[in-house]
Amino acid sequence: MKKHYPRTLSSGANNTVIALTESEVGKIFAGDTRSDIGSEAEKMKFANQVNDLIVKFVRLDELNEEAEMLVMERVYPMDFRAYEYEKRELWLEVLEDELSALHQAGFVHRDLRRPSDMVGQPFDNILLTAQGFRLIDVGISALRSQVGDRLFDRFVAQELKELEEFRQFVLSR
Ligand SMILES: Nc1ncnc2c1ncn2[C@@H]1O[C@H](COP(=O)(O)OP(=O)(O)O)[C@@H](O)[C@H]1O
Ligand SMILES: [Mg+2]
Repeated sequence: MKKHYPRTLSSGANNTVIALTESEVGKIFAGDTRSDIGSEAEKMKFANQVNDLIVKFVRLDELNEEAEMLVMERVYPMDFRAYEYEKRELWLEVLEDELSALHQAGFVHRDLRRPSDMVGQPFDNILLTAQGFRLIDVGISALRSQVGDRLFDRFVAQELKELEEFRQFVLSR
């Protein structure tokens, strides 16, 4: 059973995310996940230098004795079903361009689509905002400089498949 924190926004597959202010959220790292926080922060900062697709890193902070948190920009997701097909296509094109710029720069997200055997929405790391699609959760993202060309290229090929599935998902509802 997951620990319940005050001001919880959501508990994703691994971490709880709490609201801090109107513009900031904190992703909590406790227990087993504690050692992952630095790596997630570094990957997020890398992507932030390329473009605005991945939510902005703000700082690392402590929540209490037992837990740290990755503080980031808070986004307010909207439902794409409220918007016309044409608008969704436009947002998809921007997403595709920005993701490809990240790939060119040596960053691959790797978690667009949740494996079908896991609970939750299939694309819950892609949030639609008034500024278009944004990505959260770089927990399993990879940098070319860290994983090498072979793995990186394989991850990109898989990501492009998931992106196409997301396009179908968005345009068929
Ligand atoms: N920057 C953010 N703004 C608003 N909500 C967020 C933000 N980051 C995460 N969340 C919410 O918290 C959930 C879990 O965050 P996520 O980073 O995906 O963690 P996990 O690794 O547990 O999936 C998300 O699905 C989303 O609902
Ligand atoms: Mg997630």
